[in-house]
Amino acid sequence: MTDTQQTAEYIARDERWGAHNYHPLPVVISEAEGAWVTDVDGRRYLDFLSGYSALNFGHRNRRLIDAAHQQLDRLTLTSRAFHNDQFGLFCEELADLTGTEMVLTMNTGAEAVESAIKIARKWAYEIKGVETDRAEIIVATHNFHGRTTTIISFSDDPAAHDNYGPFTPGFVTVPYGDASAVRAAIGPNTAAVLMEPIQGEAGVIVPPAGFWSDVRSACDENNVLLVADEIQSGLARTGTLFALDHEGVRADLYTLGKALGGGIIPVSAVVGRADVLGVLKPGQHGSTFGGYPVACAVGRAVVELLSTGEFQQRAKELGEHLHAGLRSLEGKGISAVRGRGLWAGVDIDPRAKTGREVSMLLRDRGVLCKETHERTLRMAPPLVIEREEIDQALAALAEALDE
Ligand SMILES: Cc1ncc(COP(=O)(O)O)c(C=O)c1O
Repeated sequence: MTDTQQTAEYIARDERWGAHNYHPLPVVISEAEGAWVTDVDGRRYLDFLSGYSALNFGHRNRRLIDAAHQQLDRLTLTSRAFHNDQFGLFCEELADLTGTEMVLTMNTGAEAVESAIKIARKWAYEIKGVETDRAEIIVATHNFHGRTTTIISFSDDPAAHDNYGPFTPGFVTVPYGDASAVRAAIGPNTAAVLMEPIQGEAGVIVPPAGFWSDVRSACDENNVLLVADEIQSGLARTGTLFALDHEGVRADLYTLGKALGGGIIPVSAVVGRADVLGVLKPGQHGSTFGGYPVACAVGRAVVELLSTGEFQQRAKELGEHLHAGLRSLEGKGISAVRGRGLWAGVDIDPRAKTGREVSMLLRDRGVLCKETHERTLRMAPPLVIEREEIDQALAALAEALDE
């Protein structure tokens, strides 16, 4: 597919004026509906990435758009200096959905993770009795939790980490999926274990069965908090509300983001135990937009969509279909497929093509997804996608691998 003059001009403008912190596929989207996006030249593509799972309910989901419009027409921002009539309802409904006791609202995913780190440290000093400034948080190799200075301090991805020092201390890294390493790393100063239930950016890595229940036990035995970063894995993506639900494990704190704002506005939250979130007192943490009325109204509509279980069910059933289709391509240009629900990490056979090459060939066939690292495609279509559309994408992938 050759880029039109129009597409080329948009891309040239981005390159000239925007900081070069991304390497997008050369497609310029101007409209979207459900699982489909349309570019400036009128070409349509199936969205197989969903804004890294922010668009779980599809582009411009009617219920969410209506909720946003109605709120925009009434009240947008109060700041938390005053109460508003949406905040408490959002917190109550989200706590109810997630089976948790208290909610801290923020904006982006990274802010939710930052908040969870601050809360875990404060809890360690004020409740657990860890000596001041000695608290440790156990994290995993190949983690991805966002881009702030503290978070990238414990990233082992050179692109995310290098040349941003000096780094925030207080993190201990153990191999992802190794419960005995978690146990061995726990000491008297350990405040929390912070990990993704399934690692997204690392290539949709599912830890071994039993890992999470072992980590839960290790945390319980040592009075350590379990903090699950469900920003990408949560809110129906894997076929359950939380990815941890597959393991029958509950976290003490969950970080949520992405789909919590329905792909309309950034909404994030830390949800969990009231005795842990309760360490925050007035003035000790906050954000001007955290819990603003528009975020709460959209978040409430998201909670309502999730409360029926319909999206969880779709992700489960259609996910099985997607994974069966992907597995049938193993040995035909694909070396491994991982994931759960409508979420897949697809390793391209190193003798065949790079992830970028396959992404480009898919684009030419009307399917948009994106490589992570050199050789892995990350697939996460909106949960409103239909079975036939998945088949269409699988056929395009088979062709792309064959070319
Ligand atoms: C697991 C996880 N945590 C945190 C984040 C950061 O979210 P945001 O980009 O909204 O700051 C991401 C983003 O990809 C993520 O996948």
